Amino acid sequence: MVKELIYQGKAKSVYSSDHQDEVVIEYRDDATAFNGVKKASLVDKGRVNNLFNAYIMQKLEEAGVKTHFVKILSDNESLMKKLKMIPVECVVRNYAAGGICKRLGIEKGMKFVEPIFEFFLKDDALGDPMINTSHILAFNWASESEIAFMRKTTFKVNEVLSKLFDDSGLLLVDYKLEFGRFHDEILLGDEFSPDGCRLWDRKTREVFDKDRFRQDLGDVIGHYKEVARRIGLAL
Ligand code: CDP
Repeated sequence: MVKELIYQGKAKSVYSSDHQDEVVIEYRDDATAFNGVKKASLVDKGRVNNLFNAYIMQKLEEAGVKTHFVKILSDNESLMKKLKMIPVECVVRNYAAGGICKRLGIEKGMKFVEPIFEFFLKDDALGDPMINTSHILAFNWASESEIAFMRKTTFKVNEVLSKLFDDSGLLLVDYKLEFGRFHDEILLGDEFSPDGCRLWDRKTREVFDKDRFRQDLGDVIGHYKEVARRIGLAL
């Protein structure tokens, strides 16, 4: 098999596989924040995120969410279906944190009466600006039915994962998902790991996600591993 590099992202590299419909995703130890301004290499991050993502994608599949995940290939690599990515990020928030606190002047940690859904444009150079369905339709990034599907699926993921984390003593504060087209289907793509969500201890509200890296709280990967342990994944 000749593996050719197709795309190199901030923390993952995408390679061709011996099947034209599938790609190999390599999880590197690179960590970035603030749209790539802050960078570091964190020992074992690639392996932890690869195995964490695989575990979550399998849980989601069991709950009826279709994802790009095919199988784990090695500690740092998984085989995925090759998607044509839709350039929007779908964010759901259960508790106030991050961008929304500044934007709306609200206190960190408040629980919303119902989950909030937001779209952002995936564009680092522009700092991933917030957009709405009108922008998505006007620029032809996705159709009305694709928008509805992404929204419905992102909320479904919230039901499944809020319960999974809640049962493990963790609050799923917020998270970001990305979707892509595969033949005539839309599949959940990218990854689900503590890099793309916020997780707090339910009692102490200790931070277990990428905010540990953003805010220099220390022992980032130790905390990712503790999340894994709590949800039943031995790493
Ligand atoms: O965290 P930040 O202020 O950059 O953005 P946010 O809109 O508050 O992020 C909401 C959730 O989406 C957090 O869990 C982020 O980690 C995640 N996110 C992400 O994974 N990638 C982005 N480009 C933006 C947000």
